[in-house]
Amino acid sequence: MPVKHTIPQPICSGLQVPELGKFPFTIHYRGDKRDAILVRFEGLVYAYLNQCVHMPKALDCEQAHIFDETGRFLQCSMHTICYDPVTGESLSEICAGKSLTAIQVREEGGWVYLVDKRAVMSG
Ligand code: FES
Repeated sequence: MPVKHTIPQPICSGLQVPELGKFPFTIHYRGDKRDAILVRFEGLVYAYLNQCVHMPKALDCEQAHIFDETGRFLQCSMHTICYDPVTGESLSEICAGKSLTAIQVREEGGWVYLVDKRAVMSG
């Protein structure tokens, strides 16, 4: 499939990503259809491929929420590995040194846009 680089591409309204909340979306990333997720932490929006570094599971595969009970860390609901929401870095010993795959997004004028040259929105 030819990749169109029509960036920035709108993902959703910023209102659809509440603090400590999530917004799932689908992209073509390096030629593959992948699930991704927007999260908001301390007012800023971040995006990652929605795949844990431990096993190929979605972070929210078992529970709807995406942050741990402290609201400080992203947490995979399968085996509770925690991640820094800003960098995507694993903070758990068993996957130390690994990180979620960050997707470049930008929030502007009330909208969140995909601005990652490796990815295009998927219908
Ligand atoms: S699959 Fe995510 S912590 Fe094990």
